[in-house]
Order: sequence, then structure tokens, then C-alpha cells
Amino acid sequence: MHKLLYISLLAAVWTRGCCNHENYKKIPYPFFESDLQKQYGKITKEELKIAQEQVENMFWFGYGNYMKHAYPLDELDPIHCKGRGPDYENPENININDALGAYSLTLVDSLTSLAIFGNKTAFHQAVQLVINNVHFENDVTVQVFEATIRVIGSLLSTHLVLTNENPYIGEMTMNDYDGELLTMTHDLANRLLVAFANTDTRKKFKTKLL
Ligand SMILES: *[C@@H]1O[C@H](CO)[C@@H](O)[C@H](O)[C@H]1NC(C)=O
Repeated sequence: MHKLLYISLLAAVWTRGCCNHENYKKIPYPFFESDLQKQYGKITKEELKIAQEQVENMFWFGYGNYMKHAYPLDELDPIHCKGRGPDYENPENININDALGAYSLTLVDSLTSLAIFGNKTAFHQAVQLVINNVHFENDVTVQVFEATIRVIGSLLSTHLVLTNENPYIGEMTMNDYDGELLTMTHDLANRLLVAFANTDTRKKFKTKLL
């Protein structure tokens, strides 16, 4: 799941044009006003809608197939169409092992997207799966950076959405939610903390055994 890809697509679609443009807030749709932008940068409302739909369809396609073929493993191996977790046999395989931590990474990664795309049922189902099945008591070594942005980041953002502290996404509260994601974040953060404890060893602790 290429979260960054669709987040940047979304950002491109949703932000009000070029952020460097000092007057961008005052410019009515279609946002782009410089000569170059006038010539090359304009998108019509119809194109905007099509782009939004394409991003949304790509998301549901990716998420649905991950859930069908790969969950509860970390990600979908698109060549073999099956799930993939850490490469236990080859710990040096950092291409896989930097990110995959036997914690249903794609599901965790997708939580806020489910909310953004507005399917509350699917969002709540995914949150429940994470609460019930994801844990960090795994014999794996993950990269601190990956675990921080993809897991801590997702869990914290999802907690904010569930407690309605994110004003952009709308009403997404879930009955019986009791801060479980915050507790999980705390657990993971504690496991990663040693990596930050000493600046001399920060490099050495680029990866951390959960
Ligand atoms: C929302 O998600 C639920 C559960 O996954 C699914 O059954 C339903 O069809 C989805 N609704 C829409 C409008 O896509």
C-alpha cells in the first residue's frame, strides 16, 4: 500500500493550489494564477472530480485486496498475490525487515484513510481488528523511523479521529472506544525509546528489537 502516494495525490487534489503562491488564499477556484500555471496547471472541476474518484478507487482496490489476500500479515506481495511479513530467515533483508514488524502494517497504515474516505463502518471494523489482534510483543527488528511514522503516526492520528479531535474528518466516534490505541502507542513508543536514549548510540540503534 503506497500510503505516501495517495496522500500526496490527495494533497495535490485537495490543497488550494500552489502553496508558494503568496496570495493563494485569496484566489478563487481554479487556484492557479501564474502564467506558467495558467498554461499548464489548470484543472477543471470535472478533472478534479475524476482525480478524486481515481484516488478513492485506488485506495479501495488496494485495501480490499490487502484484506482479502494478505491480512493479518504486514503487506500484500503483489507479484505472488499473498501476504508477506518479516523475513525471519534472512535478518539482513532490510528491504523487507525495516518496515515489516508482524503487526498488520497495512491495516494500521490504512486506518485514517478509511476515515478520510468516509466509510465509518469499515473504519470502525479496522480499528476493532487492530485493537483485538495487533500487538508489539514480536521477535523482530524494525527501523525506528518506519515504526514511528507508520505505526505510532497512524495509531495517534486514529486516536484523534476517534475522539473527534480532528476537525477535518467529521464525526467518527466509536461506541466503547476507550483509548486503546493510545495505550498501544505508549507500549510501542516505550519499546523504541532506547533508540533515543543516547545520541552516541542513536545510529547503532537505527533498528530496534521490539
Ligand atoms: C463500507 O464498508 C462496509 C464494511 O466493509 C461495506 O460493507 C460497505 O459496502 C461500505 N460502504 C460503502 C458505501 O462503500
